[in-house]
Amino acid sequence: MDTEAVIFDLDGVLVHTDKYHYLAWKQLSDELGIYFDEEINRRLRGVSREQSLEIILENYNGKPFSDDEKKKMANKKNDIYRKYLSEMTPSDVKDEVRDTLHVLKERGYHIAVGSSSKNTGFILEKTDLLNEFEVVSDGTMITRTKPDPEVFLLASKLLSIAPSKCLVVEDADAGIDAGVAGGMKTAAYGEAVKSGKADYILDHFPDLLNICQ
Ligand code: BG6
Ligand code: MG
Repeated sequence: MDTEAVIFDLDGVLVHTDKYHYLAWKQLSDELGIYFDEEINRRLRGVSREQSLEIILENYNGKPFSDDEKKKMANKKNDIYRKYLSEMTPSDVKDEVRDTLHVLKERGYHIAVGSSSKNTGFILEKTDLLNEFEVVSDGTMITRTKPDPEVFLLASKLLSIAPSKCLVVEDADAGIDAGVAGGMKTAAYGEAVKSGKADYILDHFPDLLNICQ
C-alpha cells in the first residue's frame, strides 16, 4: 500500500469526547422534552453541531423553532460540552494512541487531524496533542461537513499529499463516507466498524501499525 499520510478524526478516535457530545445533547434534549438515545446519537457522529440539532429535532412535534431559537440551543449544547472539555488533561489520550502516533512518524508517515469540530483547537490544546500533527483541518476551516470530503481534502492539500495516498481513520459512518468520497483509503475504528464500508478495521488503535508498516 502506498500510503504516505494518515488523517485522523478527533472525537471518538484520538480522544473520547464523543461521550461528552452525547451527554451534552442528552441534557439539552431532556430539558426540551425530546426523546434522545444512543441510536440517534450514532447519526450525530461526524456531522456538524447545526446538523446534529436538526437530527435531534426530528423527534420534536411542537411548534417549529425559529433560526434564532435553534442558534441558542446549539450554543447551549456547546456551553455544556465545553464544560466537560475544560476538565480534560493530557491523560485523556491513551498511551497506545500517543505511542502509535510516534511510531507512525518514525516510519516516515505524515499525520494530520481532519475533524468537523469547531472545538478541535481547544481539545488538542487541553490534551497536549497540538504539536503532534503536521496539519490540522477542522470545522472552523470548512463549509460542508462529513460525509462531504471537504475537511479531508483540505488536510491532503495542506500536507501536499494526493488523496489516493492518504488513509483516513474514523469512528463515524459519515466520516468513512467522506474518506471514500475524497478518494482516500479508510480505516474504521469503534462505532464505524459496524458500517462495513471501510477498507480496514481497527479492533485496537495500534492495529494501524499493521496497515502502515
Ligand atoms: C464531530 C463530532 O467531530 O464534530 C460530531 O463527531 C460533532 O458529533 C461535530 O457534532 C461538531 O463538533 P463541535 O465541537 O463543533 O460542536
Ligand atoms: Mg468521530
